[in-house]
Amino acid sequence: MLQDPLRNEWHAVLKSTELNEEPVQCYVLGERVAVFRTDSGVHAFRDLCIHRGAALSLGKVKDNQLICPYHAWEYNTQGTCVKIPAQPCTQAIPKKAKAEVYHCQEKYGLIWVCLSDEPKPILNYPEGDQPEEYRTVICGPYEIEANAPRVVENFLDISHLMFVHEGLLGDEEHAEVSDYRVHFEDGRYITDRISIYQPNPDGRSIGGYTDYVYEILSPKTARLKKFGPGPNDVFSLLIEVLQEKDGKTKVYMLQSRNFQLEEPDEGYIEFQDLIIGQDLAIVESQRPELLPLDLQEELHLKCDRLSISYRRWLKELGIEVGTTENLQVQR
Ligand code: FES
Ligand code: CO
Repeated sequence: MLQDPLRNEWHAVLKSTELNEEPVQCYVLGERVAVFRTDSGVHAFRDLCIHRGAALSLGKVKDNQLICPYHAWEYNTQGTCVKIPAQPCTQAIPKKAKAEVYHCQEKYGLIWVCLSDEPKPILNYPEGDQPEEYRTVICGPYEIEANAPRVVENFLDISHLMFVHEGLLGDEEHAEVSDYRVHFEDGRYITDRISIYQPNPDGRSIGGYTDYVYEILSPKTARLKKFGPGPNDVFSLLIEVLQEKDGKTKVYMLQSRNFQLEEPDEGYIEFQDLIIGQDLAIVESQRPELLPLDLQEELHLKCDRLSISYRRWLKELGIEVGTTENLQVQR
């Protein structure tokens, strides 16, 4: 059976603040996952009780065990069933009474799940490790009716900024994208500095050119850094796209800045909400839903170099996220 390479990746399923006492149901690559919190941290199980197939996420956490909502079997954090209330205590609990455990951890204010026994290294986001220098806020979740590669590619798309985000991130009068190159270094793609005209969203003063550097970190993770307007100002925006099901994604963004550290975060989050709102209708309208990886399909310009690198990379990695085939449960 086809093994989806994304199963080895860590997927951001929730913000830490979205998980409290109650378990939460998430979808990862078509798989139903129960995520819950105990004194020892965060945990993820396949969201299925082996007794009668009920969703464990409908249950509750009591004394650091996950309790099935149907007949109250109790599972410890290793997934072992330690109590079956309907069974006299003289009878042994069947050995097969286990929940399937996935890797789960918290990092950068997000909860991450990996479905495979051989996880790749989790995201390294240096700005998130430097709270003294960078103020990092989490944006999202954004629910998008599209497959992950279309969403990632929209983030990497430079020449839409002047139209979809006219007046906010670009200006129709400055639509030309200067030539740039894409390099493969240290396991990720990175562009040269690309100079893009930024209007002043407040409309009070005129804009100016800002340098953008894009990176593709994984098939579902990308980021950009903006330099300016101050000589040492750096703004970093990372997009983490979770393919929940076929045609459905959930997006979280880590947004970091080393300036205006005292400013309230709300304005920054609202701005990002607005930008994603503008992209949403476009991305959901794109056909085919599956990103064409054959470069003969669709039409590519020089300024689309970054998208071309992304499509090539997906092809090399054998990833076509969103096909029903790839989302087949691997068991
Ligand atoms: Fe879970 Fe019966 S279905 S305890
Ligand atoms: Co956009």
